[in-house]
Amino acid sequence: MCGIVGYIGPREAAGICYEGLRRLEYRGYDSAGIAVIRDGRMDVVKRVGKLRILGETLAAEPMPGPLAIGHTRWATHGKPSETNSHPHLSCDGKIAVVHNGIIENYAELRDQLTAEGHEFKSQTDTEVIAHLVEKLYDGDIFQAVLKAIEVMRGAYAIAVITEHEPDKIVAARLRSPLVIGIGEGENYVASDMAAVRQETDKVYVIDDGEAAIVTRDDIKLFKVTGEPIAKDPYVIPWPAEAAAKGEHKHFMHKEIHEQPEAMRACLAGRITEAADRVILESLNMTPEEIRGLKKVILTACGTAYHAGLVGRFMIEKLARIPAECDLAAELQARDPVILDNTLGIVISQSGETMDTLLALRELKAKGAKVVAVVNRVDSVIARESDGVVYIQAGPEIGVASTKAYTGQILTLEMIAVHFAEVRQTAPEAELKALRRALLACPDQAVELLRREPDVVKLAEKYWQLHNSLYLGRGINLPSAMEGALKLKEISYVHAEAYSAGEMKHGPIALVCPDLYTVAIAVQGQVYEQMVGNMQEIRARSGPVIGVVNDGDEAIREHLDDPILVPPCPELVSPITIALPLQLLAYHIADIRGEDIDQPRNLAKTVTVE
Ligand code: AGP
Repeated sequence: MCGIVGYIGPREAAGICYEGLRRLEYRGYDSAGIAVIRDGRMDVVKRVGKLRILGETLAAEPMPGPLAIGHTRWATHGKPSETNSHPHLSCDGKIAVVHNGIIENYAELRDQLTAEGHEFKSQTDTEVIAHLVEKLYDGDIFQAVLKAIEVMRGAYAIAVITEHEPDKIVAARLRSPLVIGIGEGENYVASDMAAVRQETDKVYVIDDGEAAIVTRDDIKLFKVTGEPIAKDPYVIPWPAEAAAKGEHKHFMHKEIHEQPEAMRACLAGRITEAADRVILESLNMTPEEIRGLKKVILTACGTAYHAGLVGRFMIEKLARIPAECDLAAELQARDPVILDNTLGIVISQSGETMDTLLALRELKAKGAKVVAVVNRVDSVIARESDGVVYIQAGPEIGVASTKAYTGQILTLEMIAVHFAEVRQTAPEAELKALRRALLACPDQAVELLRREPDVVKLAEKYWQLHNSLYLGRGINLPSAMEGALKLKEISYVHAEAYSAGEMKHGPIALVCPDLYTVAIAVQGQVYEQMVGNMQEIRARSGPVIGVVNDGDEAIREHLDDPILVPPCPELVSPITIALPLQLLAYHIADIRGEDIDQPRNLAKTVTVE
């Protein structure tokens, strides 16, 4: 998830772009760059590291000029480096592009352009766009961009400038956010309103399949097929100082709402559009290795551990490989016996968690091959693993992990389906249904976020209770564990997760009117048993919030308050269940007035044992 900006007008474009990038830094911060056109000539500066480094360069060596585009990067393809940072240029250096998203078919386009004589400098997917536009340019940069878009597949928000036509910015969007800021005698392009709010409160929100030609005094909007369109300007309701979080009160809330975009980025290029197979080259495992696997050991901490538990369930169920999932600290403590053909899977949002890194080293020292499911590109865990699948969630600022969790589960589910495909251990019809359900997750997330007001009402009803139980079974025991962790770590309410089957072995003694229970009872293998648990609790006057499927009327008599989730295969349900439980924890903590983005005693990344 990166940030793009553009400016055209009478003022110094590079400075305005830099200020815009500063407000997008939450979207990515491993490298940044700006391209300026002045007197018909392109000038580009790029720097690795924090955006501040680019700012210092601009202060020392100003880049005056009325037209510029800029980019702050969250590496997806190609590690953080000056060469890989944007803007990317055509061979002749006369066309510059900045891009947020993923060009899924970049490899084949790159091969084709290379064969036609184009020389690439970076390992990124984005550079393909610059060479493609150069190839298709015949005197009209807008038409060249539209023709390039016709052959690109994936997700993009792009801004393009050229020395040939130094009076305009061309911008276009598919699946990655893009706005056009409306000024007076000057105009702006940006990934989101946060980047332009200090300059204007009026924007055009660009939708999928739309493009724009932006000049100093005019903004023309089109479909990417070329038809002109008209839009009403959107007036930004919040003040400039709220910029980085946009209209969100906390980064955690923003990141909960970024999950549809993050899920799309995670899925992009990894499940074919026809849902007929999973593609995970970066796993770095041959079909023979996958067929030869005798054991999988997953390991992580906190939320990532809960994702690992879902992954363990999926791998064992679908790929029929014995699997276990250890807390990273516990894995080291038990001096595990690692037999031949064992695969380690380490999961980490930051890729820097010391416990998980040490567990990785333990597994490797004992002969296991290790792959990582990580968010932060080029992190130490990514570097020390034999294979890496990045979850593409973009930077996660809030200490409580949300979009990384659903990205980790999505990735682990794809790995499990991929293993089952290779080992032929599940019927193709079942795998196809799962691939389709995974592809539908972003849209289901949009629907679940639309239901947020229902969760707010629950928070308003339960926020004062100090004790809660979260119950689940099977693949949704980890969902209960994650829901409880979210609540306790940001609201400081005691929340304990339990396997519902364990209630009769002790915890049911806790049940009373002051202890509410969140019970996960979606349609599936353990549904009937969950209903039984809910009846036992309510018979003892314990309030029950039931996480249940839309349309399930029969269960309503066994709960006090429902959290409704759209139906989906039980094996995919941990992804959809996560969102309302994140929102419940968030709104309870918000009503309690807690410091949600920096909860007491916690840090975003635990780089000590
Ligand atoms: C999750 O909300 C917590 N912030 C914490 O449990 C976190 O998941 C854990 O520290 C692991 O971090 P990692 O994913 O960066 O390795």
